[in-house]
Amino acid sequence: METVVSGIRPTGNLHLGNYFGAVKSFVQMQHEYNCLFFIADWHSLTTRPKPEDIIRSTRTILAEYLACGISPEKATIYIQSDVKEVLELYLYLNMNAYLGELERVTTFKDKVRQQPNNVNAGLLTYPTLMAADILIHKAVKVPVGKDQEQNMEKARVYARRFNTIYGVECFPEPASFSFGDKALKVPGLDGSGKMGKSDGNCIYLFEEEASIRKKVMRAVTDSGPTGQNQPKPEVIQNLFTFLDIASSRDTYEYFDEKWNDGSIRYGDLKKQIAEDLTNLIAPIREKIKEFMSDTVLLDKIARHGAEKAHESAAKTLREVREIIGFRPE
Ligand code: TYM
Repeated sequence: METVVSGIRPTGNLHLGNYFGAVKSFVQMQHEYNCLFFIADWHSLTTRPKPEDIIRSTRTILAEYLACGISPEKATIYIQSDVKEVLELYLYLNMNAYLGELERVTTFKDKVRQQPNNVNAGLLTYPTLMAADILIHKAVKVPVGKDQEQNMEKARVYARRFNTIYGVECFPEPASFSFGDKALKVPGLDGSGKMGKSDGNCIYLFEEEASIRKKVMRAVTDSGPTGQNQPKPEVIQNLFTFLDIASSRDTYEYFDEKWNDGSIRYGDLKKQIAEDLTNLIAPIREKIKEFMSDTVLLDKIARHGAEKAHESAAKTLREVREIIGFRPE
């Protein structure tokens, strides 16, 4: 059975970008693949979070994974820092990763601008750690959003390079996966870029109904269509992206027609989006609360997941050590 790996950094509650970009695919894929889903707590250290924030966020994401429908019986759910084999592979991959190529990664350049006083080596080698997460289990598919495309390209480069240097076929080249036919970027509500950049442009899976409605009704729009069959400006396209991912096909087509004949009312469109998002989120929110209150269960799931992930990782690492010329262990 083919292996699937993906992870999310514990930086707060999951938002709709995480859900539609990644977690929804996790839930679907667990039935068909050997799936390993983790919480990327090492990756979160690039911004120096407080220990109590890591502990809280890790537990939250674990509860949210479960609330979304990831089953510990079907998929392996673990915390990245519980599986130390990843670090050893990270070191090996770093030996074949070049400064120039790492400096050219867009997310690195963004971080350099965002935190000029903390341009640490972890930020620079973020893609090699991500490649290690994936390659340690020899995953072939990785469900991620569009923003991870460059990191995924790097994971393929490092897999290929390792194979070439040692003349082996150790690592398969992992492909991004999205439940639609192309990688998804869930837009923010403030009309700028992707969801996830700030609190104001996010809707969380834990969000209460009134707050969801308020945020959607406040989403940025323009003054309305200027004629029939006009191309949609970005802020309006963003709203249609929400319809596309959260509403039925009929609903999407209804509003698309209204746009095309110039009779659309943004208030109605937003009400529909708020309604469909609320229906999606409400049951998840209730389950998050249930799982959050059962810390014994959460710890048990994390421990069990760590054991399974460790087994898979140790197998790859034995092979890698031997290829490199070290004792298998
Ligand atoms: P992170 O924690 O930033 O985001 C987790 C997942 O959510 C997706 N995502 C989005 N998708 C669509 N639209 C959005 N607005 C949006 N915002 C977030 C991301 O694409 C991602 O899939 N580097 C990763 C974590 C990671 C990882 C890995 C992923 C570490 N090792 C190995 C896969 C495999 C990250 O920072 O994701």
